[in-house]
Amino acid sequence: MIRSRGLAASAVLLLVTAAVTLLAAAALTGCNSEEYVVAKIAPTQGNTATGEIRFYKVEGGVRVVGKLEGLSPGLHGFHLHEKGDCSAPDAMSAGGHYNPAATPHGAPDADSAHRHGGDLGNLEAGADGKAPVDRMDRVLVYENLVGLAVLVHANPDDLTSQPAGNAGPRVGCGVIARR
Ligand code: CU
Ligand code: ZN
Repeated sequence: MIRSRGLAASAVLLLVTAAVTLLAAAALTGCNSEEYVVAKIAPTQGNTATGEIRFYKVEGGVRVVGKLEGLSPGLHGFHLHEKGDCSAPDAMSAGGHYNPAATPHGAPDADSAHRHGGDLGNLEAGADGKAPVDRMDRVLVYENLVGLAVLVHANPDDLTSQPAGNAGPRVGCGVIARR
């Protein structure tokens, strides 16, 4: 009788240990919001834009989070371009806007038929040249982001001109990679 009570106590202890282990594992792996890919932005020739942009996998889309600095104050076109190649001094090697659905250029809050996949609109830099970003994008598909380029432009994206919003030269470029 004493022996069987000891066995029962051991079994309970084992179950508790197993439950705690499972909870810990769930906490480590179950948090999708910590899954992200990232682009480190470097300046094109003659410019000073630097920074890092992360793309988090979240419910219903992608959360775009990061900060650029070294920009002139004001709005700067902000896009994903189709080629993950920032090698040209002016970053023209990154090609045109990422446009998987062959749609027209548009605003980031337009539906998927009225914007390019890569149309992230504008960043706004303050007087200190820093432009923080934290927004939700419901058109981008997280699994398709690695290998695309993140581009920042000298001028605002007007969100309507075709094919690219008339945002002027490319001042910063980075390729999206797994961390
Ligand atoms: Cu662009
Ligand atoms: Zn576009």
